[in-house]
Amino acid sequence: MKISVIGCGYLGAVHASSMAELGHEVVGIDVDSSKIALLSEGKATFFEPGLTEVLSSALAGGRLRFSSDIADAAGAEVHFIAVGTPQTIGSYAADLTYVDAAVTSLLPYLSAGDLVVGKSTVPVGTAARLAELIATSGSGASLAWNPEFLREGFAVNDTIHPDRLVYGVPAGEAGERATAQLNEIYATAIEAGTPVVVTDYATAELVKVSANAFLATKISFINAMAEIAEVTGADVTQLADAIGFDDRIGRRFLNAGVGFGGGCLPKDIRAFTARAEELGRGESVAFLKEVDAINLRRRQRVVDLVVSALDGQLYNSRVAVLGLSFKPHSDDVRDSPALDVAVQLYGLGASVVATDPQGIENARGRHPQLEYTASVEDALRDASVVVLVTEWPEFTEIDPVWARTLVKTPTIIDARNTLDPVAWRAAGWTYVGLGRP
Ligand code: UDX
Repeated sequence: MKISVIGCGYLGAVHASSMAELGHEVVGIDVDSSKIALLSEGKATFFEPGLTEVLSSALAGGRLRFSSDIADAAGAEVHFIAVGTPQTIGSYAADLTYVDAAVTSLLPYLSAGDLVVGKSTVPVGTAARLAELIATSGSGASLAWNPEFLREGFAVNDTIHPDRLVYGVPAGEAGERATAQLNEIYATAIEAGTPVVVTDYATAELVKVSANAFLATKISFINAMAEIAEVTGADVTQLADAIGFDDRIGRRFLNAGVGFGGGCLPKDIRAFTARAEELGRGESVAFLKEVDAINLRRRQRVVDLVVSALDGQLYNSRVAVLGLSFKPHSDDVRDSPALDVAVQLYGLGASVVATDPQGIENARGRHPQLEYTASVEDALRDASVVVLVTEWPEFTEIDPVWARTLVKTPTIIDARNTLDPVAWRAAGWTYVGLGRP
């Protein structure tokens, strides 16, 4: 199928490349011409395992091209909207400026039978509003909402082999046609048995935000248990293992630590709260404010543990921060707990030296005041305390005996509960986990 993808950020670049990998003819469009120039050369503008490979193979096969001119969307039958919906400055609501601009700029290039497909995460009610806008433009195009559930670090695989497909479509014939068009696009996944849920706009929009709200709640639940474990001497990791054996609960997303971050979970639960309040149902999701508060308290807890390890003497104390990205296998530092902890410690007067396999450049762009090094060895050297904040294998596999020879004081705060306390203590370290004795 001929496809256009409007927006070539984390979502759009992966979607455009993956759709081309599946055999479709794709044009990726973005207003940022420097991004388009790099993508056209097969260079990914962010770190995502597997992206460069699908990008290069699709470009070489002639199935993928990029453009900064929205007019190049003309001729495609299906147009994916994959622009960002960040948190609005000064409010919890999602900023829909980019979604609105993408759809509005596309209107003159739509033809009868075209399908505009929203992928961006939006507040419920947005699709109905945009469908109205498209209908009044008179092109004869229609709209579907097809939320994306990809995880950074696994984005290409999640796009090519999704665990479910959700189509929010209009009623009647237009909905049937939209469903058929989407089924053709996702034919490979559907043949492989991927379940498809065909529903209305509001449900499709809500599936996405409620999935992220549920995941955030699960993480904050276990982090709340970590807080209780800290005052009772219990071990939250054993607690998670034990409750996780119950199939109804499950062990995934029950890792207590410094909490969640990134470009999705934090802003999505806030936008959901804001939208529910607009709808007069603020109380229905008021618990998400607590989920957010628990999450942010965990960052503070890590900072407090460092302060206490240094007996309050932060000035001129060297603190090695292992991790900057919000999770491993990503260079994304948006709302990263790791970067937040590093910046807070710097603000308290510590001499922070931070390292990360992929996140340094993005972190430096936001916080040039921190000291960065690509070398774990350099980060550890002469440190008075070490904080592991993002569980990259490069950090979780550090040999505690070797690391002991580099630091000034062997104290490690394991803010992801991923190290083996027995091995680290045996190597002479003071090991401090979150919610662990
Ligand atoms: C998330 C959703 O998983 C995905 O479906 C959606 O499309 C976008 O948002 P992503 O932001 O890539 O994906 O990250 P995810 O893997 O969900 O992790 C989110 C955060 O939670 C990370 O900071 C991670 O470190 C943290 N986390 C995850 C925990 O603290 N504990 C856990 O047990 C799991």
